[in-house]
Amino acid sequence: MPTNLQVQLAKRPPPGMITHDCFAVREVPLADPGDGEVRVKIAYVSLDPAMRGWVNDTRSYVPPVGIGEVMRAYSVGRVEASRHPDFKVGDAVQGLLGAQQYAVTKGSPRLVKVDETKAPLERWVGGLGMPGWTAYFGLLEVGQPQPGETVVVSAASGAVGSIVGQIAKIKGCRAVGIAGGPEKCAFVTDTLGFDACVDYKAPDLEAALKRACPDGIDVNFENVGGDILDTVLPQMNVFGRIAICGLISAYNATSPPPGPRNFRAILTQRLRMRGLIVTDWSNRVPEAIRDLGAWHAEGRLKIREDVRKGGLPAFVDTLNLLYTGGNNGKLILEV
Ligand SMILES: NC(=O)c1ccc[n+]([C@@H]2O[C@H](COP(=O)([O-])OP(=O)(O)OC[C@H]3O[C@@H](n4cnc5c(N)ncnc54)[C@H](OP(=O)(O)O)[C@@H]3O)[C@@H](O)[C@H]2O)c1
Repeated sequence: MPTNLQVQLAKRPPPGMITHDCFAVREVPLADPGDGEVRVKIAYVSLDPAMRGWVNDTRSYVPPVGIGEVMRAYSVGRVEASRHPDFKVGDAVQGLLGAQQYAVTKGSPRLVKVDETKAPLERWVGGLGMPGWTAYFGLLEVGQPQPGETVVVSAASGAVGSIVGQIAKIKGCRAVGIAGGPEKCAFVTDTLGFDACVDYKAPDLEAALKRACPDGIDVNFENVGGDILDTVLPQMNVFGRIAICGLISAYNATSPPPGPRNFRAILTQRLRMRGLIVTDWSNRVPEAIRDLGAWHAEGRLKIREDVRKGGLPAFVDTLNLLYTGGNNGKLILEV
């Protein structure tokens, strides 16, 4: 009997890094698509920092993954069987298909057809997929960068941050990254074309950021939180915008992190701080794909994936790379 391999949530992880016993890799019978459904053979599973939050039983923007359920994940693959009028066998598609070998799904509206002639399959869960859409809408809609302004982004060499800074450049801004270590910083400036990148692991982040942003900071795209956000806040210009995209420094915290010590800057510099979740713009995804795809084709948007082998059994070890900076670009697991 044909089977499907799935990464299932086995138990709720306690605070801290996820351990192997929280997940089980199980074989289940392979389902056939029902009326209006498709079966997708998944090639790549996207590993995203948010996964740490998706397995916590706390109030969030999505319900927690249930015990025994397939781990929620963006995945990309090809339609293998279809009883859906809009999808045919062989179509390349991406969506929230889970961490598994095969997904049976109703498709629309969240199953997005992707064009393999424009970019390889894995890129559609990377810079042209959810992380790219997050950078696109988060920066343009929440950050609202104007030409000549300074945009700072943390986790700058990663999936979202790398795209944020490049869009900022395309929009005529000064792009400054914050990343961990000289190699990542060199990638951000020399390959991605940011104007500067500050190594937060080196001494005196505050002074280094000041040197990199001589005219202050107009837009901060926050991916990390904690000390990094605290260092950015006092350097924000009056009427600056802060897009809170992620707070990865606290995802594995064993006790609640303290609030920003420099919160006062919100008042004194009249800042606007807004959280964002990429699905807020679900109905505008084609717009992001159009612009990101065009910039990529023109060579103005560079995208780097970090594709790991080992298949679904390597899920936990690969996921945890995100929280130690072990990834170089969009982290993806080959199924
Ligand atoms: N709101 C949304 O809809 C949405 C959607 C997608 C992603 N996000 C958020 O965007 C952020 C980036 O996600 P991504 O997928 O692009 O991941 P990524 O940047 O490709 O990888 C995560 C990076 O975070 C940095 N990091 C990890 N722990 C850190 C710490 N304690 N202090 C400082 N930096 C740390 C590491 O880079 P260094 O080596 O440079 O430290 C690591 O490589 C995350 O916070 C994620 O939750 C939000």
